[in-house]
Amino acid sequence: MDPDQNQPPHLPLVPHRGFNLISGLHDPGEVDLISRLQLRDSDLFIVTYPKSGTIWMQQIMLLLEARGDVSAVGSSRSNAELVPWIEVKDNSQAFMRAPSPRMCVTHLLHHFLPLDLSQRKGKVIYVARNPKDVLVSYYHFHKVANMLETPKSFDDFFEKFLRGEVFGCSWFEHIKNWYSHKDEMNMLVVMYEEMIQDLRSAIKRISMFLGKELTEEQLASMVKHSTFSTMRKNPQANYEQVSGELLSHHLGRFMRKGTVGDWKNHFSVAQNQRFDQLFQREMKEFPLSFIWDMKDLQ
Ligand code: A3P
Repeated sequence: MDPDQNQPPHLPLVPHRGFNLISGLHDPGEVDLISRLQLRDSDLFIVTYPKSGTIWMQQIMLLLEARGDVSAVGSSRSNAELVPWIEVKDNSQAFMRAPSPRMCVTHLLHHFLPLDLSQRKGKVIYVARNPKDVLVSYYHFHKVANMLETPKSFDDFFEKFLRGEVFGCSWFEHIKNWYSHKDEMNMLVVMYEEMIQDLRSAIKRISMFLGKELTEEQLASMVKHSTFSTMRKNPQANYEQVSGELLSHHLGRFMRKGTVGDWKNHFSVAQNQRFDQLFQREMKEFPLSFIWDMKDLQ
């Protein structure tokens, strides 16, 4: 697809300590101060590689705080404001001023995050998704997000993703980096595909990890308001309040397909082979397995 001529120019990536930040949106000096933030036990960090289910987990956290009562979440602000990105300019100071329980999301690598996490202060939920679907979702997102360069083609983006030349870093590095620190922290790993397969059980596991008990009724309401079909109709979860300067809403939406295996509609046979070879090389010692196809969920 040709870049939309009416889109504002994208913002350049700024490599910083192994992570590509976005110029104008992130300030490297401010990002470096995040590691010194003092945490409270009730703090929660949702950590994701982009397009792995960040908004989904934001929605689940907001509903969990409201014990499933969607009207208590409020609708005037998007989920991005209610559970903000800590790395975005000014957000870390706002996080420090926020009342408990403080919640935020981040795509950053482990070495940028508060050292207090390794003292078992606060909690981390890491959401992981199979990287072929992440790649496809990220490709489509680049067409909607004005700050990111519109891909010349899927093939071109495929190469950039494999080289980690995107906002963030390589997918392989991100998951291995975080997983290697798992036992130092209060950290729960949640797979996107596990939420697709059995959202109710995933929410129960998350609420137990956070020590929040839910009644059957509250749990049912949480499931109802965090399914793809409900969230797709929810402007707050779709980030519709986010300014047109950052997102070209007419070109696509955050709630795009919400499925497992869309990569099959995009990858060529050769691309798939290359991806598999790289995956085997990079992940051979990694203990978790991934779900690549809806039929593996039956
Ligand atoms: P697709 O582009 O494959 O549809 P992030 O929030 O990290 O940017 O991730 C966005 C991806 O998560 C999108 O994937 C989006 O559709 C999917 N997603 C968000 N909420 C979801 C839900 N409730 N159920 C399934 N997928 C969801």
